[in-house]
Amino acid sequence: MRGRPLAYPHFHDSLFVRVPTCNLGGGIMAFEKNILCIGAGYVGGPTMAMIAHKCPQYRVTVVDTNPERITAWNSDTLPIYEPGLDEIVKGARGRNLFFSTRIEQGIQEADVIFVSVNTPTKTFGAGAGMAADLQYWEKTARQIREASQSHKIIVEKSTLPVKTALAMERILTATANGVRFDILSNPEFMAEGTGVKDLESPDRVLVGSRETPEGIKARDELVEIYANWVPRERIITSNIWSSELSKLVSNAFLAQRISSINAISSLCEKTEADVTEVARAVGMDSRLGDKFLNASIGFGGSCFKKDILNLVYLCRQYGLDDVAEYWDGVVRINDYQKERFILNMLGAMFNTLAGKRICLFGFAFKADTGDTRESPAISVSRRLVEERAELVITDPRALENAEEDLAGIKGKIAFVEDPYEAAAGCDAIAVMTEWDIYTTLDFEKIYETMRKPTFIFDGRNLLDHQHLFEIGFNVFPVGKCSLTHF
Ligand code: NAD
Ligand code: UGA
Repeated sequence: MRGRPLAYPHFHDSLFVRVPTCNLGGGIMAFEKNILCIGAGYVGGPTMAMIAHKCPQYRVTVVDTNPERITAWNSDTLPIYEPGLDEIVKGARGRNLFFSTRIEQGIQEADVIFVSVNTPTKTFGAGAGMAADLQYWEKTARQIREASQSHKIIVEKSTLPVKTALAMERILTATANGVRFDILSNPEFMAEGTGVKDLESPDRVLVGSRETPEGIKARDELVEIYANWVPRERIITSNIWSSELSKLVSNAFLAQRISSINAISSLCEKTEADVTEVARAVGMDSRLGDKFLNASIGFGGSCFKKDILNLVYLCRQYGLDDVAEYWDGVVRINDYQKERFILNMLGAMFNTLAGKRICLFGFAFKADTGDTRESPAISVSRRLVEERAELVITDPRALENAEEDLAGIKGKIAFVEDPYEAAAGCDAIAVMTEWDIYTTLDFEKIYETMRKPTFIFDGRNLLDHQHLFEIGFNVFPVGKCSLTHF
C-alpha cells in the first residue's frame, strides 16, 4: 500500500447517493440495512467486501480519512494484495459495496457501524512501547457521536484492550442528544494471505454484548448478518469483556506456540535433533495439533507483538506482574530468535560480514501478502547493515514497502525484483519469507553466479537442504544440523 502508485479510480467518491436501492432478482427494492465500516485497511476492506459479496441485500460502505487509500480501493490496483480479494471487491463494488471519504454522511446513513481503525502500540507518554494507542479509536467514537441522528449499533472490529467498550459507551453517551448506541465486540480473526478463505469460512465468529435486553437485541442483529453465510454453530456469543479479551488471548496463544517451537529450535541446533521432526511428533498429539509449529526466523506482522505487549501492559495495570512476565517471554524469545539468526550468520561466515553481499529472499512478514509491518526482515536488515554487510532484497510483492521500511538506514541496500539477478554476485542468501516461488528456482544456476564459498540461511526451512548442499551451498536451516563443506 505505502508508496504504491495509484491507478485511476473507477468510481467517484460520491456514492452516497440518495437512492439506496438496487435491482435484486429483477425488482427494485430498498437495501435492507446500511452498514458502514470506519477504517479501510487490511481488515476493514476485506471484511466489508465479504459482507457485501455474501449479502447483496445490504449496502456496505467503507470510509477512511486517507483519500489515497480510498482512491486505491476504487481503482484497478487495490491498496492491499490478498489472494482472491480482487474478484470479490470488483464483483460487489458499485453494486452494494462503496468506498468513500465522506465519514460524516456515512455515519448518518448507517444502521450498523463497524470500527476497524488501527490500534498500534503507543509510542509516547505513559505506556509507550507497550499499551495500545487508542487515539484513532477515540476520535472515531467522537465522530460517531457528533454525526449520529438515529440509533446505531457500533461494532468493535479493531483489536482493543479489554474494557474499551466501557470507554466507548462513556464517550458516546457524554452528550444528552437522545440517540441510543449499542456497542458490540466482534473481533476479527482473519490472517493475512489467507484472508478471503478465513472470512468466507471462519473457524468461528465471536460477538460480545452487554447482557441487557438492548444489548442482546443488537447482538442478534449482528449474528443475523453473519448467518447469511456462516453456519450458526460457528457464530458464538459471549459477554462483551470476554469477547474483547478473547482476541488478545487468541493472538497471544498463537504467538506463544511459535515462540515455543523457536525456543526448541535453538536446543535442536545444539543436540542434533531436527525441529521439524520434533514438531511433527509433538503436533500429532491431537490435544496439541500441528498448526503454528513451524520454526522460523520469528513471527512478524502488525498484530502479534502489539497485542501481546498490550496484554502484558494490561496485566501490569491490574497488578498481575507474574502473569505479565510470563507473556512478555513470548516477545523476548521472538527477539532472541531474530538475533540468533544474525549471530549464526556471523559465526558461519568467519565472524565478519563487513563488505559481504547478502541477498534476502523475501521481505513480507509471511507469504501471500505485500505487508511488511513488523516483518523479521526489517530487523535482520538493520542488523546486517550494522555489521556492514551489503544487502540485496527481493520479494514478489513487498519491494515498495521494503524500500519505505529501510529508507532511513545508511548502508548499501539494493531492491531487485528478479531473484536470479538479486542473488548474482552475493556471498549468501537468507530466506526471510516462505514464498512458494523460491522452492521452484533453479539453484544450480543461482549457485554458479554467486561468490564462493556460498551460503544459504533458510529462516523458514523452506528449501530442499540436501539438494542445496549437493550443489555446493553451505546450508544453515533453523533448528537442524547445518550442512557444510568445511
Ligand atoms: P490499517 O492500518 O491497515 O487500517 C486502519 C485504517 O483506519 C487506516 O486506513 C486509517 O487511515 C484508518 N483510520 C484511522 N483513523 C481513522 C478515523 N478516525 N476515521 C476514518 N479512518 C481512520 O489497520 P488494519 O491492519 O486493518 O487493522 C485494524 C485493526 O484490526 C487493528 O486493531 C488490528 O489489530 C486489527 N486486526 C488486524 C488484522 C490484520 O490482519 N491486519 C487481523 C485482525 C485484527
Ligand atoms: C494473525 C492471526 O493468525 C490471526 O488470527 C489474527 O486475526 C491476526 O494475526 C491479527 O490479529 O492481526 P497474521 O499475523 O496475519 O494473523 O498471520 P499469521 O499466519 O498468524 O502469521 C504471523 C507470523 O507468524 C508470520 O510472520 C508467520 O510467518 C509466523 N509464523 C506462523 C511462524 O513463524 N510459524 C508458524 O508456524 C506460523
